[in-house]
Amino acid sequence: MIETVGERRRIWLLTGATSGYALHLTDTDELLHLHWGPRVTAADAEALAARPLPPYRPFESRLDGHEEYPVEGGPRFVRPALAVRHGQARGTQWRFEGAGADGDELALRFGDGPLALTLHYRMRDDSDVVERWVTAAHRGGGPEPEALELLRADAATWSLPLRDAWRLSQLRGRWSAEFQPARSALAYGETVIGSRRGHTSHQHLPWVALDAEGATEEYGELYTCALAWSGSWRIAVQRLPDGLVQITGGAGHDDAGLVRLAPGDSYTSPVFAALWSAGGFGGASRAWHAWQLAHVIPDARRTRPVLYNSWEATGFHTSRERQSALARRAAALGAELFVVDDGWFRGRAGDRSGLGDWEPDPDRFPGGLRPLADEVHGLGMGFGIWVEPEMVNPDSDLHRAHPDWAQHRPGRRGTEFRNQLVLNLARPDVREHLWERLHGLLSSTPVDFVKWDFNRCFTDAGWPGESYPERLWVEHVRALYDLLDRLRAAHPGVAFESCSGGGGRVDLGILSRTDQVWTSDNTDPLDRLAIQHGFSQLHPARVMAAWVTDSPNVQLNGRASSLRFRFVSAMAGVLGLGGDLTRWSVRELDEARRWVELYKSIRPVVQLGELHRLRAPGGDGLSAVQYALGDDVVVLVWLPAQRHGEPPPPVRLRGLDPQARYVCRDTGELYRGSVLIHHGLPTGLTGDLDAAVIRLCRGC
Ligand code: DGJ
Repeated sequence: MIETVGERRRIWLLTGATSGYALHLTDTDELLHLHWGPRVTAADAEALAARPLPPYRPFESRLDGHEEYPVEGGPRFVRPALAVRHGQARGTQWRFEGAGADGDELALRFGDGPLALTLHYRMRDDSDVVERWVTAAHRGGGPEPEALELLRADAATWSLPLRDAWRLSQLRGRWSAEFQPARSALAYGETVIGSRRGHTSHQHLPWVALDAEGATEEYGELYTCALAWSGSWRIAVQRLPDGLVQITGGAGHDDAGLVRLAPGDSYTSPVFAALWSAGGFGGASRAWHAWQLAHVIPDARRTRPVLYNSWEATGFHTSRERQSALARRAAALGAELFVVDDGWFRGRAGDRSGLGDWEPDPDRFPGGLRPLADEVHGLGMGFGIWVEPEMVNPDSDLHRAHPDWAQHRPGRRGTEFRNQLVLNLARPDVREHLWERLHGLLSSTPVDFVKWDFNRCFTDAGWPGESYPERLWVEHVRALYDLLDRLRAAHPGVAFESCSGGGGRVDLGILSRTDQVWTSDNTDPLDRLAIQHGFSQLHPARVMAAWVTDSPNVQLNGRASSLRFRFVSAMAGVLGLGGDLTRWSVRELDEARRWVELYKSIRPVVQLGELHRLRAPGGDGLSAVQYALGDDVVVLVWLPAQRHGEPPPPVRLRGLDPQARYVCRDTGELYRGSVLIHHGLPTGLTGDLDAAVIRLCRGC
C-alpha cells in the first residue's frame, strides 16, 4: 500500500506485510529517507519529516546518510549512486517534476536539463521486500549537444537507522565453494563487494545483510539487500563518520562508464531489492523465498522434476550408445528428465574445440539428437541438452568465419580460459545468429530442458570499431536476458537452468527467467551441505539443483560416502542424479530407486515449503534443515562424524503448533508439538556420514 502524506503531499509511506518504508521530499527538492523497519503510521512519518537535518557545519555534509539517492555534486561526500557527464559538465542538480503512485508502485520524477531521472519503488501487500530501480533518459535539449554519459547509475541506495554498531554478513566463495557465509563488524569507511568478471561470479553473491543487535537464526532485526543482475556489479556498504550506514548498489563494478545516452535513449537499472525482518536470518530467508516464489521465479508453484545429467558419467566422451545406456538406467530409477551435458555437438572432443558449432556431432550422434530424444521420451522422461551459447572456441567453424565476433582488444594478447573466448553479445549480428541457432535447435529437436552454461569470465572486453565499447558490459547481459525471454516465449514448454561452472550466475535477475540453477560443480555431499546452507540465505530450495554422483567423488575430492548420505544431501533441493549409473551395482540401483521414490513423496514440502535451518553445517556436528507445508513437516539431518561414541543431540524443530500432535509417517511414532519445539526430535544417527529423512504429519 502507498500513502501520500502531509500538507504538501511530499511524504510517501509504503506499507508491506509487516514493515514500512517512508521518504520525504523537502521544499528544496532534497529527497530524504525517513524510515525503514516495523510498520509506522502516516502520523509517525510526518513526525519524522518534521525533524530537522543536522545543522550546517563546514567540513561536514548535512545530506550524507539521509538521502534516498545521493547524486554526484554539491555538498555530498558519500559514494554517489548517480554520476553523469554531459560534455564538460558533471554532476546532477535535479528539480522535482512529479510523482505517480499506481497500485503498489511509486515513481518519483526528477529533471536536470536533458536528464530525466525516475526513481521507482514497489512494495507489495503480501511481502516485506521493497524493490527499487531507476530509469535515466536523455530527453534532448540542454546546453551541450553531446550524449549524456552515465558513469554510474545505481539501482538504489538503502539507508539504515542510526545504531551504535553494525555487523555485515555476506556470501563469499570461489569455484566449487560458493555461498560461504562471512560475518564481520562493519568498519568505518566503505566495504565494497562485487564482480568485475562480466557475470555474477562465484566470489560474491549479490546479497548483504546487516544487523545491529546480534541477530540470530531465529531472532533479531535484520536488513538485507539483493541485486537482480547477472553481469558485473557492485554493492558498497558505507559507514559514515557519524555512524549512519548506507548501502548503494547497481550494475557495473567501476565508475568508468556504464551507458551513453543519445537524445531519446534511456537506461533502466536492474532492481535492487531489500527487506527488513524481525525474525533473524531464518525469518529473512523465508521472506525472501516467499517473495521469489510468488513474484520472481517463473511458474514457481510447479515443482521441478528429478533429472539425470550425464556430465560426471561421460565428460566429453559421449555417444548415442553411451547416453542410451544411461537413459535406460535413469528411467528405471525414476528420473523424470534426462539431460545430455557437454560433448554432443560437432567437433567437441574436449574443451579445445567445438563451442559455437551447435549441431549434433554426426559421428557420435548419427541422425542427430532426435533418435535419442525419442528414445528418452519413450522411456517416460523429458529430454534436455547442455549449451554454452555466449562462448566460442578458436577451433570452431564459427570463430573461423567470424573472428571479430569474440570480445577482443586489438594489439593485445587475448586470454583463453578453458580454451575459449567470450562472444560479444552486444553486437546485433551475434545476437541474431545465436537466436537463429538456438531457436532452430529447439524447433528441430524435441527438447524440454536447456542447461545454459557460462564457463569463463570476461578479460578482454574490447569491441574494435565501436566508439563507446564500455556499453558492452551492460548490453551483454541485456542480450542474454533478451535471448532467454525470446526463447521462452517461442518455446513455452522448455525449462532453463542457469549454470556458470556451477553457481557463478545465481542472482535474482537470472532467476526471473530460468527455472532452476546448477548450484555448484562441487558434488561432494558433505561440502555441499555448507554450499546449500549459504544458498538458502537468499534463494529457495525450489531452484537449487543437487545431484547424487559416484562415490568416491570424481569431480572434486575423492571422498567416499554412502548412497544414503549422498541422497539425503541432494534431497535438500531439486534432486538430480549425476553418476555413472552403468557402473552402479544392482543393490545400489535398487536402493537409489527407493530414495528417488521417497524424494517424490516429500518434493512439494521441500521445494515449496517454509525452510528452517535447524542446525548449521560445519565441523563434525549434526546439521539439520526442516521444511513445512500445510500439515507436512520434513526434517533432513546429517552427521559428518560421531566423536567418542556421543549420541548426537535431539534436533529442536521450529514453526510447529505447540498444541498439535505430530506423527512420524515412517514409524508411526507420536510426538507432541511443544516437546519437539523445546526438547527436540531424536534422530538416531551414528558413525560417520550418516543421514536421515524424517517425515512428520500434523494430526494425521
Ligand atoms: C561446467 C558445469 O558446471 C558442469 O556441470 C558441466 O556442464 C561442464 N561445465 C561442461 O563443460
